Amino acid sequence: MVDHDGFRIQPLAHAGFGVRVEFAASGIDAIVETCTRRADAIRDAFYAAHGLMLIAGLHEIRNQSAALVELSRLFGPEVENYRETLTSQRFFHDSVNEILVLSNRPPCNHPPPPRRGRDGAELRVQFPHQVNWHTDQSYRRPPPDVSLLLALDVPPREQGQTLYADCTAAFAALDADLRARLDSLEGIHAPGWIGRSRAAVEAGEPVLELLPHQLPQRQPLVRYHPTTGEPALYLCEEKQMDYVDGPIAGLEPGPDGDGARLVRKLLAHATQPRFVYVHEWTAGDLLIGDNRNLLHCATWYDAERHDRLMWRTTVMGNPGAEYAGEGKSWIPPAGVDVMAGMEHA
Ligand SMILES: [Fe+2]
Repeated sequence: MVDHDGFRIQPLAHAGFGVRVEFAASGIDAIVETCTRRADAIRDAFYAAHGLMLIAGLHEIRNQSAALVELSRLFGPEVENYRETLTSQRFFHDSVNEILVLSNRPPCNHPPPPRRGRDGAELRVQFPHQVNWHTDQSYRRPPPDVSLLLALDVPPREQGQTLYADCTAAFAALDADLRARLDSLEGIHAPGWIGRSRAAVEAGEPVLELLPHQLPQRQPLVRYHPTTGEPALYLCEEKQMDYVDGPIAGLEPGPDGDGARLVRKLLAHATQPRFVYVHEWTAGDLLIGDNRNLLHCATWYDAERHDRLMWRTTVMGNPGAEYAGEGKSWIPPAGVDVMAGMEHA
């Protein structure tokens, strides 16, 4: 535990992965004030914990949504406007453009994750038992830096958890030869709704015609964190990579190729229980996760019986040296809608 002026830091998971911040003051205004005044110390704690931080008790944000955007600004220069990104409008918040709504209720109708990963009562976190491991919006260049996830309505414990995998520790645990080989490779990332996922290719689904700003994007398979300098695996599950041309540039493509085999091997490695933190949500929890060096996924919940409502913000603007000087791949030319032809998403 570390005591600071106005807050203290507690460990969250194992082996230095994740921290929980507890504040001396209560109330959203006081917490935002402390975070803003002590922003450097908050960020230092976040990065030292490999980019995973919990702040609990933020129920008041439900009626004070701008506070979520303010807290997000602590973690990067730009909080994204979802109306200007590759995002279906059913996920838009009513009034705050920076908030994405994830809920099983209309109009969002976000389906619950599949019930895989449960072996009877026991949760199995490792891929391929657990599916949907991903890093947010990796099909854009530069990809987003940090995602903040606020729980408003949550299912009972042991349902609808969020799992985080520490891909810095996972990369460090690989042998040196494999680390060196991975360092020169690039993954090809694609949205799940354009016919390029593993399942879509295996099912023979049509590959969607895309506009230039919607095309799959290459990302380094190993990213060096712009703040800590530490290398981490950067890849996604099979729904968010391109199994037509990839998933790994330069390796045999397709669902049964060498690239696919490497992705499955690395996902299984990175999601071993020793690298994974399981978060049981309580309403009012805010979990902040660094997309540059973590994988995450949600677990199944009974969406017939329970509501799940989460708000997400995404921060960008510090992707690292490999993206220096790049424009945003997802911005269309003037007069073209960002989601043109993707209305089914
Ligand atoms: Fe996500």
